[in-house]
Amino acid sequence: MPKDFLALTDWSRDDLDKIFTLTRDLKDKQKRGEEHHLLKGKTLAMIFEKSSTRTRISFEVGMFQLGGHALFLSSGNTQMGRGEPVQDSARVMARYCDGVMIRTFSQQLVEDFARHADVPVVNALTDLYHPCQVMADLFTVIEHKGSYRDLAYCWIGDGNNMAHSWINAAAVFGFELRVATPKGYEPDAAVVARAKKMGAKILYTQDPAEAARGAMVLNTDVWASMGQEAEQQEREKDFKGFQLNRDIVALADPGCIVLHCLPAHRDEEITDEVIEGPHSVVFDQAENRLHVQKAILVTLMG
Ligand code: CP
Ligand code: NVA
Repeated sequence: MPKDFLALTDWSRDDLDKIFTLTRDLKDKQKRGEEHHLLKGKTLAMIFEKSSTRTRISFEVGMFQLGGHALFLSSGNTQMGRGEPVQDSARVMARYCDGVMIRTFSQQLVEDFARHADVPVVNALTDLYHPCQVMADLFTVIEHKGSYRDLAYCWIGDGNNMAHSWINAAAVFGFELRVATPKGYEPDAAVVARAKKMGAKILYTQDPAEAARGAMVLNTDVWASMGQEAEQQEREKDFKGFQLNRDIVALADPGCIVLHCLPAHRDEEITDEVIEGPHSVVFDQAENRLHVQKAILVTLMG
């Protein structure tokens, strides 16, 4: 099993399935109010170079529920933010803590950090990937559809970090993924090429209707991610027609579910009606960040 949780493609389907099984167990225990101090006395450092609501709260609460402790470290208040070399920060933090979680811009930084830290490192979002989120998304699919297998998945919107982690998931788990983005906002070619080499069934189109037809899982995300705020207005123009709305839902399987990692821009990438509608499972999805990340932490640090 890998030391770190940096990208879904580093992991085997078997090991990720075990994380889903553990997630079920931990979620049930939490709901029953049963103590599950599997990380008693352990400490997780959480480095944030970007904003967060769900990630910060779910990791911090998750460590507490597991009997451990989490430290919130914003880059502005650490020496890392003042340029301390990553190989020094990584080795120092590994002397104090049993694991490190990082949310930052560069995937390379997370990988460098992990190489120098001899404790587990978890990727909590980079410009390239958001693997913890897609694990929570797939656990939500399992809860609502019984299994993630043999379903058609559809991504409409930006070829961003979330899209890349979905592409990785298609490679590891073997499901069909249709990706619709505007021209110029395609997913990273190297990510797609590697997934296809691993056998992923990925259909790329610039027509959201083609991607949505008959799909069981509809998924979208903001048009401008963190760090792209200056492009917001231009993107609003470029993404016209790429909204997850009632017309798209009508093309999908009648039993389809709608995912959004949140935060959402209502009536931009998704309509208020759809996110509040009967197909939406976005709040189960947000809750499952807590349960699935606890399982990831126990797997890595337990
Ligand atoms: N989905 C997600 O990662 O949310 P936050 O940015 O609030 O952590
Ligand atoms: N693509 C979004 C996801 C936020 C959870 C971003 O990177 O800002």
